Amino acid sequence: MKIIKVKNYDEMSDKSAEILASVVKAEPHATLGLATGSTVLGTYDRLVEMYKRGEISFADISSFNLDEYVGLGGDSDQSYVHYMRKHLFCRTDFDLKNTHLPDGAAENAEEECARYSALLAANPRRIQLLGLGSDGHIGFNEPYSPFDGTTHVAELAESTISDNSRLFERLEAVPRKAITMGIAEIMQARSILILVSGAAKAEAVRAMVNGEVNESCPASGLQRHGDVTLIVDEAAAGLL
Ligand code: GLP
Repeated sequence: MKIIKVKNYDEMSDKSAEILASVVKAEPHATLGLATGSTVLGTYDRLVEMYKRGEISFADISSFNLDEYVGLGGDSDQSYVHYMRKHLFCRTDFDLKNTHLPDGAAENAEEECARYSALLAANPRRIQLLGLGSDGHIGFNEPYSPFDGTTHVAELAESTISDNSRLFERLEAVPRKAITMGIAEIMQARSILILVSGAAKAEAVRAMVNGEVNESCPASGLQRHGDVTLIVDEAAAGLL
């Protein structure tokens, strides 16, 4: 794992946007794996700025997101499809028909997982962007999710529900299930870029980088991937 230590959130966002932009410039038809959450917001802001300055275009880029809450569709402000449109897709020249997320509002979630998994198999990702949960989750693959798992319905850990409740009106409004790309599918990307900021993630960073490769820390599986870049700020790198 290549580790880039930076001072703070802003430097992390600068560096990650630079890496993603270099992929988009070199491969204008690339397929990207994208993530949601607060960690990647600064990266998306910078990509939007580069687009506005005419430095990059997403017109021929395709994307596949990691996950979506079960029960939430595009009409919900808390859905990840809404997040992606608001923070990246509709602020740039992404063609919405080339952007993909699991459909959280699908009538049959199991069928939706199979549909998304087949799409992923047919569309290898050039680079996968990841955040890290404070319990070591990637996507919504919580501790003890199998390393060989594909897209599935995940029960969210209590700590994840509480971490993510800041974006909902109240704790009870946070969905308890999500559709997530499985760890095996995350690992299929040619390269992986994982961003971590803040002291609350320091223990998860330690377990991911220096811990045993074990399903108790889903992100530790990344140690087995040959091309992972971790950008970590000083606070999150505190236990390395
Ligand atoms: C969320 C998402 C992940 C995200 C992670 C960290 O639950 N499912 O994709 O990377 O947890 O979120 P944040 O960046 O808001 O800390």
